[in-house]
Amino acid sequence: MKDAVVRLADSFDLRSLPPDFYENPFPYYAALRAESPVKRLPDGTFFVTRYDDAEFVYKNPKIFSSDKKQEFGAKYGAAPLFEHHTTSLVFNDPPFHTRVRRLINGALTPRAVAQIQPDLVALVDRLIDTMARKASVDLIEDFAAAIPVEVIGNLLGVPRAERAPLRNWSLAILGALEPRLDPDAASRGNRAVREFAAYLDVLIERRRRTPLGPDSDLISCLLHGGFDGQSLSGAELVHNCIFLLNAGHETTTNLIGNGLVALAQHPEQRDRLIADSSLIKSAVEEFLRYESPNQLGNRITTQPVQLGGVDMPAGTQITLCIGAANRDPEQFTAPDELDIGRLPNRHLAFASGIHQCVGMSVARLEAATAISMLLGRFPSYSLSGAPTRGGRVRFRGFLKIPCKLGG
Ligand code: HEM
Repeated sequence: MKDAVVRLADSFDLRSLPPDFYENPFPYYAALRAESPVKRLPDGTFFVTRYDDAEFVYKNPKIFSSDKKQEFGAKYGAAPLFEHHTTSLVFNDPPFHTRVRRLINGALTPRAVAQIQPDLVALVDRLIDTMARKASVDLIEDFAAAIPVEVIGNLLGVPRAERAPLRNWSLAILGALEPRLDPDAASRGNRAVREFAAYLDVLIERRRRTPLGPDSDLISCLLHGGFDGQSLSGAELVHNCIFLLNAGHETTTNLIGNGLVALAQHPEQRDRLIADSSLIKSAVEEFLRYESPNQLGNRITTQPVQLGGVDMPAGTQITLCIGAANRDPEQFTAPDELDIGRLPNRHLAFASGIHQCVGMSVARLEAATAISMLLGRFPSYSLSGAPTRGGRVRFRGFLKIPCKLGG
């Protein structure tokens, strides 16, 4: 047994994963946490699986930088994907990161998030009504994927009739962040950045010509709100809007889908939630921990440092495994069990520190609303076939969830 665990940890390589990893990465993560928690991979980068180490990295942004120019220069070359990712706040350090983050934070106030709710409830109601007329449904296509695109589209003020291409652009751009990039994925990603940027140029120009007021939507906030008198350049505005549109798409779709599958597979937890609907908040936190939609994060060291007893020189690339940290037995009791009432639940699904997800209250609201409303209407929904996994390492979710809604 011990030998098998050691072998699993020894042979682990993020760029060459065995097929069963995509279905169930957790035995690999457990082996790494136990045997090699700060694991040097064949390409010289490090893979971090323990909660305390991951949190330490997130909390020390001066030592562990988010700036990806070096890494993405090598990965993408001088291509649109390089320009896009290296201009997004998430892949930058202060002061640029602080400037953009304050603008976005200013737009996503608790009041602004609460204002999302009525439209969200109406949308979820409509989706459920439409599904109720079908014999069998796909909980991704018919439900989970249809929600975030509308919510983020509303937040950014993208006219409804123009939203159709957003999801595929977003999937193509985020797909190119996978640890291994094949030429097809790179060209799909580059084309998506070009088309998305061209679309946003038009939308932003419209907003400049006909201003809607600084608080009306996120684009207007970014356009008008000059923190310290410094507003964003045209390219900075476009790329951070693309990032915002992308950041909330696939991740939130996956959170809703992962939550619904987890409940279908754990009937006792589903019954618990039906019996006490006030558990929905802690249930969403548990779905975030148990099947974290975003499994990986990345940083690069700015100085020599020791992490988990391992010495690293400056310029070392690190992958933080959120999915592994969120199953760390040192942090969570019975981490491989789904417990919708788990407290405390200090998971890292939204990261931690200065880059902690700026849209987490939006994502939480979407998931709580979607899951509780579906369960309210169809408490005995069931899977009508095996759900199809997304086949990605960074973003964990399903492509299809065939489902019978029941009476
Ligand atoms: C379940 C859904 C979501 C998950 C799991 C998630 C996860 C994350 C994580 C892990 C980070 C930190 C990345 C890093 O520093 O390495 C992040 C950052 C971010 N997220 Fe989310 N996210 C979700 C939904 C959203 C939504 C709905 C929005 C927008 C409305 C959003 C906007 C952002 C932004 C702007 C950042 C960058 C923050 C910064 O660099 O300071 N996210 N997210």
